[in-house]
Amino acid sequence: MNSINQLFTEKYRPKNFDDLILPERVMSKFKDGLVQNMLFAGSPGTGKTSCAKAIVNQFGLPYLYINASTDTSVDVIRTKIIDFCSTVSIMDAPGMFKVVILDEVDGVSDQFFKALRATMEQFASNSRFIATCNYINKLPDPILSRFEVINFDFDKEEESELTKKYIRRVYEICKAEGMSIQKDALVEFVRRNFPDLRSTLNKLQGYKTQGTTDITVEDVKKFNSVYKDVFDLVFNESDPAKNYQLLVSNYSNRVDDVLQSLGEEFVEYIQQERLQSVKHIPQVIISVAKHQAQRVHVIDPVITMLSCVYDIQGIVKE
Ligand SMILES: Nc1ncnc2c1ncn2[C@@H]1O[C@H](COP(=O)(O)OP(=O)(O)O)[C@@H](O)[C@H]1O
Ligand SMILES: [Mg+2]
Repeated sequence: MNSINQLFTEKYRPKNFDDLILPERVMSKFKDGLVQNMLFAGSPGTGKTSCAKAIVNQFGLPYLYINASTDTSVDVIRTKIIDFCSTVSIMDAPGMFKVVILDEVDGVSDQFFKALRATMEQFASNSRFIATCNYINKLPDPILSRFEVINFDFDKEEESELTKKYIRRVYEICKAEGMSIQKDALVEFVRRNFPDLRSTLNKLQGYKTQGTTDITVEDVKKFNSVYKDVFDLVFNESDPAKNYQLLVSNYSNRVDDVLQSLGEEFVEYIQQERLQSVKHIPQVIISVAKHQAQRVHVIDPVITMLSCVYDIQGIVKE
C-alpha cells in the first residue's frame, strides 16, 4: 500500500448524522440530543464507533474518547474521566453534557466495570457515557442497567433497506476514487460483506491498490483487501529482512489497523485462499488477541506488529 496515504475507512468515516447509514430505529434515539447513556452493541464494521463520534459532532458536545480495549490501565482511565468530567467549561449550559466515549468495552476487567459504575454515578448530573461493544453478554447487569442498549445487529427488514444504502455508498466512493464497478458486481460485493462496511471499504481499496479500476463479478469472487500484501507475506515471505522492510516501510503508522485486519479479514483470506491452513485459524486468532493486548505496554508498537506477523508465520508453517 505504498502509494496510499489515507485509508478509505478514515477518508469516508461519517462526520455527522447525514453520513451515517443506520436504520430509523437507531437514528430516532438521538432526535432530542443525547439524553441517556447509550450502549451500542453488535458486530464489527456496522458504525458503532462512527455513530458515537457523529453524535458529539452533530450536537457540538465536548467529549473524551477512550478505547477501552487498548488504551490504558483502570487507574489511568479513571483519572482521565475524572479530570475531564470534573472541570467546568464555558460550554456547560443546560442540556449540554460532557460525553465520555468508551469504545470496545467488552473484554475489560471486573475492576474496570466497578470503577466505571462509581464514576458514572459521580458525574451523572453533567456527563453522559456512550459505550460500544461487540458482545453484550460480556457486560455485567449493573453496568447494562445504566445504559440504554441499542442493537447494531440488523433484522431482515433493516438489512434490505441498509443493503440498498450500502450499495449507493460504495458506488459513490467508486466514482470519487476514479473506479468503476459493474452493477451485478456491486450488488454481489455488498451482499457478500454485509453488514461489515469496514471490511467492504478495505476490500474496495484493495482493488484500487492493485490497479483493478473496473471491478467485475469475477473480481468480487476472489479474496481482496487493502492488507492483502501483508496476508500474502505471512505465507510467502520467509526472509525476515524482507518482512521487516515491507512491514516497516508501509505499515509502521498503521499498527492497530494491521492487527485488526489480521484478526478479521485474514481469517476470511485463509478460508478462501489458504485452505490447508484453516486448521490454524484458532491459533492465529489467539496470537492476534495477545498481541493486541500487549500493544499498549510496549514503547514501539511496530515491534508488536512484527512480532505478531512472525508468530503467525510460525503457526501456519507447522
Ligand atoms: N453505519 C455506517 N454508516 C456509514 N459508514 C459506516 C457505517 N459503518 C461502518 N462504516 C464505515 O466503516 C468504518 C468503520 O466503522 P466503525 O464505526 O468503526 O464500525 P464499528 O465501530 O461498528 O466496528 C467507518 O469509518 C466508515 O467508513
Ligand atoms: Mg468500533
